[in-house]
Amino acid sequence: MGLLDGRVAIVTGAGHGIGRGHALELAKEGALVVVNDLGASLKGEGAGRDADLTVKLIEERGGKAVANYEDVADFDGAGRMIQQAVEVFGRLDILVNNAGIARDATIWSMTEEDWDKVIRVHLKGTFAPTHHAVNHWRRLSKAGEDVSTGRIINTTSGAGLVGNFGQANYTAAKAGIAAFTQTVSLEVFKMGITVNAIGPAGATRMAASIPGAGIEAREPDEFDEWDPMDPSLSSPLVAWLASDQAAHVTGQVIRAVKDEIVLMKGWSNGNSIRKPGKRWDPAELTALMNADVFGCRAPGLRY
Ligand SMILES: NC(=O)c1ccc[n+]([C@@H]2O[C@H](COP(=O)([O-])OP(=O)(O)OC[C@H]3O[C@@H](n4cnc5c(N)ncnc54)[C@H](O)[C@@H]3O)[C@@H](O)[C@H]2O)c1
Repeated sequence: MGLLDGRVAIVTGAGHGIGRGHALELAKEGALVVVNDLGASLKGEGAGRDADLTVKLIEERGGKAVANYEDVADFDGAGRMIQQAVEVFGRLDILVNNAGIARDATIWSMTEEDWDKVIRVHLKGTFAPTHHAVNHWRRLSKAGEDVSTGRIINTTSGAGLVGNFGQANYTAAKAGIAAFTQTVSLEVFKMGITVNAIGPAGATRMAASIPGAGIEAREPDEFDEWDPMDPSLSSPLVAWLASDQAAHVTGQVIRAVKDEIVLMKGWSNGNSIRKPGKRWDPAELTALMNADVFGCRAPGLRY
């Protein structure tokens, strides 16, 4: 008995790295998996049949999977991917939006193409499959069916939550995915569908591309024993979030890095000042902002 027996899952960008780890884990827990991958390079160029190897690995281990080669940020292609899950396996329960690319550069060197491509794959590539999956569930729900097994698990990143030098495009997209997760979780709440985001890590080709990181890219199936760089260390969390056991968890951002799972806390109100019913004068703000908002009382600075 697995946590996900009979459930049908799509994992995007599952030909390699973290997505491959998720696909293997979900299949191990009994899910039937659509393994999506465009087969693009790290920079988002080209296309290939990279999904096939993950499908083969799942089948060798006794699971069931089918490949999908769509570009997740192609709106109609994302729709076809959702359709494929329903046509091949008869239903859809789990959507893991994981596909991603990186085109790192400082803001002064970043090209328009670097910006557009990264925003497109991460943000639109999360929006498009989510839109089609939710519409699929909504149609069923309106016809009286229970769709409360519906799960969406998005992929943000620690860098996106706190910022990272040289990654304005990537961090903007990843922070956007965290906000998207919270909004969509509210919109589908009534149908019992959950939407969460994870922040994974691992020695994938993406991590290996960070200058000076000294990381060698390895696939999750190349690790025989626990290793802090194994890209599949967040996959048990994904399987849990996808299961009935996590039906009460939604709108959350959770990092799973090495041996730790951390609930992330987002923006929240900090110190504030008020001038009841009156407009601020900019000149009066210096002292008030420094003392009461930032809490840095410079010598002699009083109000
Ligand atoms: N590796 C890390 O340490 C780390 C940390 C935080 C977040 N992440 C995120 O995890 C996810 C997976 O990254 P990874 O490190 O495994 O990278 P990876 O490059 O090994 O895998 C990404 C996969 O996505 C596929 N892909 C790219 N564009 C696609 C598209 N348009 N449509 C479908 N598939 C596409 C690629 O072909 C590739 O197989 C990404 O969203 C990444 O931002 C990774």
